[in-house]
Amino acid sequence: MIPDCYILGIIAFITIIFTTFNPFISAQSQSIPFRVGTEPTFPPFEMPSEDGSGLQGFDIDLMKAIGNEVGLDVQFESMPFDGIIPALQTGSLDAAISGMTITAERGRTVAFSSPYFKAGLAIAVQENNDTIKNFDDLKGLKIAVQIGTTGAMEADKIPNAQVISFDSVVLALQELVNGKVDAVVNDAPVTLFAIKEAGLQGVKVVGELVTEEFYGIALPFNSEKVMLLNYGLFQILRNGSYNQIYQKWFAGEPFVLPLIAPSLIGTTSTDFATNPLNNSNRQSVLSLLIQRLPQGAVVTLILTACSIFFGFIGASFIAFGLISHNPFVKNILRIYVEFFRGTPMLVQLFIIYFGLPAFFQGIGLNWSLERFPAAVIALSLNVAAYLAEIIRGGIESIDKGQWEACEALGMNRLQTLKEVIMPQAFRRVLPPLGNEFITLIKDTSLVAVIGFAELFRQGQLIVASTFQAFQVYIAVALVYLCLTTLSSFAFKWLEQKMNPVAQAKRKSASQNLNLT
Ligand code: ARG
Repeated sequence: MIPDCYILGIIAFITIIFTTFNPFISAQSQSIPFRVGTEPTFPPFEMPSEDGSGLQGFDIDLMKAIGNEVGLDVQFESMPFDGIIPALQTGSLDAAISGMTITAERGRTVAFSSPYFKAGLAIAVQENNDTIKNFDDLKGLKIAVQIGTTGAMEADKIPNAQVISFDSVVLALQELVNGKVDAVVNDAPVTLFAIKEAGLQGVKVVGELVTEEFYGIALPFNSEKVMLLNYGLFQILRNGSYNQIYQKWFAGEPFVLPLIAPSLIGTTSTDFATNPLNNSNRQSVLSLLIQRLPQGAVVTLILTACSIFFGFIGASFIAFGLISHNPFVKNILRIYVEFFRGTPMLVQLFIIYFGLPAFFQGIGLNWSLERFPAAVIALSLNVAAYLAEIIRGGIESIDKGQWEACEALGMNRLQTLKEVIMPQAFRRVLPPLGNEFITLIKDTSLVAVIGFAELFRQGQLIVASTFQAFQVYIAVALVYLCLTTLSSFAFKWLEQKMNPVAQAKRKSASQNLNLT
């Protein structure tokens, strides 16, 4: 740790330099927006303001105060946490403040301001859990984390643990409340705020802090604004604004902050200058892609196949109901179709996975769904609504005369449907069914939000540890393309196989061959 007097000396030095060159600061144009990224579901650091019009929190106030100090027109942009570093790398953000821990790995791809907050990771468990007391007790357990965070990185180190990653820590904590995981590893101030201030019930924090971390404002690598932001930070530390903001969000005295985060001490400047795309980095991205994308692709295919299977069965019944003569059945099914076609699949997934267990808990029933059945149910219900219309169209496209002919032969409606109409209709619905299958392959990426490690999520996880967004997402897109191309070939083949004209041609060709 650097001694305090040394820190104060440096602060004083920087302050004098900057005060001397003050015109430089006032020359900063107020009008050019300074785009600052944040993931705003991390209270009390960043969260939506009460009236919903903007953002509030410790980070938000701090960044505004620094902006005021140095004349930057700060404008916040909300985005997923794992998207922040890629956005800084591409220059679509000028900075990011998001409770982001200064780590050596991140320091190789982005620049950091001096630390502005001291935090650490804590373990949260269900209130009635007495078996988990520290980090060692997490071996082999199910742990929920926010994707791309230091909590996720620490959890990954636990032997045999099953780490499930969510887009926000709120969802990870909800998972713990619903009893689907044993613990959540997350920044202590945020978990404590959720329990004490936001009224999260049934959860407690156990043991000591797992790590000591310092938050910093992240900037694009080589950004010339680092000095400016540090100057602003030192100014607000000196003039008491920092203390006021700290008091507003946390009771008590702020920690003394080091000038440089300990995690960066010992990393040489050549380390920082390392091109993120050097050979060893490239190799590790490649090996991660080779290792993880096939796993993800298999999960995606299994999900799609199960959902289309159950969806098709459900859709067939719905389609029969839609052409039935019973107005009650017809209307109920119409409502079903309209609901599932008219609401986003993501919302349906959240209702099934997070909403229903919460509802049942509210009425005293302890019921929840596992990730896989929840995903298959949500996807099947949705796809059934679309397929039902396709199948109904297929059935109605068959000449009405065939129904009458069957009736004349003494067949009932069900027999007619099964023996005569459906075999023909099925052939007709094959092309749109193929389309639905391809759409579903792509839509399965939505279940990543419930922590399902399908293809897209595997890609996100690789980006979270390598920060190579472009290469990884291109690779993910190519794997999707392979899956969809293979499926469209499979459906073409099936169409050919089921085409009576082509079948007859094949038969006569083979007969001719036998004759000669
Ligand atoms: N401090 C942790 C990290 O840097 C978690 C930050 C999460 N921030 C957020 N706004 N969700 O990895």
